[in-house]
Amino acid sequence: MKKNLTIIQPQITLSDRLRSGYHRFWYEASQALRWSRGTYRETPLGTHSNLSSSQGDRIEEMNTIYGMRFELRYPPETSLFNYGYLDLLDRARQNLNWTAPQQQHVCDVGSANFSYAAALQAFFQPSQLVGTEVDGHRLYCNGRSRIDYAHGHIQDLPHTNYVVTDYRQHNQPADIITAWYPFVTPKPLLAWRLPLSLFDPASLFAQIANNLVIGGTFVMVNHSPIEATVAKNIAESTGLVCRGQYVHDAPLRPRTQPSVLTLWHHS
Ligand SMILES: C[S@@+](CC[C@H](N)C(=O)[O-])C[C@H]1O[C@@H](n2cnc3c(N)ncnc32)[C@H](O)[C@@H]1O
Repeated sequence: MKKNLTIIQPQITLSDRLRSGYHRFWYEASQALRWSRGTYRETPLGTHSNLSSSQGDRIEEMNTIYGMRFELRYPPETSLFNYGYLDLLDRARQNLNWTAPQQQHVCDVGSANFSYAAALQAFFQPSQLVGTEVDGHRLYCNGRSRIDYAHGHIQDLPHTNYVVTDYRQHNQPADIITAWYPFVTPKPLLAWRLPLSLFDPASLFAQIANNLVIGGTFVMVNHSPIEATVAKNIAESTGLVCRGQYVHDAPLRPRTQPSVLTLWHHS
């Protein structure tokens, strides 16, 4: 049953609109150009440096459970990024007594360059994993584009794809949908160098609810408890039912605010 949604519109200033216009120019240019120099693979070093002993212990623990040594596949920064995402999923699993079924169709919404695809792969062991991203043709300073990096990140992962699409128009059922840090207020979207025309969390979440199969799970991660509250109101308006929330107080990588993972069911 869908509820009416009252969104308090945050104030958009003239300077925000000017920034948005600038971002829109570059966003549309990259969409038109669709630049790609082919799959770009970063070089792994096989190890991390400067880990604290608690980080090292936790990584060992996760490797025992999930058997993925991200450092053999990715450079240290990307590897640690994956351990950070896996740490949050694993802690939430324990705290919420959540059993994530394996061999499911998993879709991630707003994947950027999908540098954390391996963490999703390790945790969900999916039959299919799809990363979706609206700004997948963004050009980086080194002449590579986001899709080039994404293809490098998923190169050796089984049944994994990356699709450049606006998820609001993406029609593909999934058993599990994940969204890491979706934009629920406009300022972070502008800081991410996107135009305000892409700020539409109500439609994005409605499409997530449409694509989620009955009995499926939506896993949303937000930057802070305040942001999680804003996101919760929007998700509830789509008819999804909240099944638990976990605040990641002791993350693997230090953060200024704790991430919040919320589980949503489609019933
Ligand atoms: C804050 S970033 C998070 C990126 C990534 N999930 C992570 O954890 O690093 C949000 C991402 O959502 C993407 N996004 C925003 N609106 C979208 C839409 N309608 N369809 C697909 N992706 C979208 C943005 O381009 C951006 O890459």
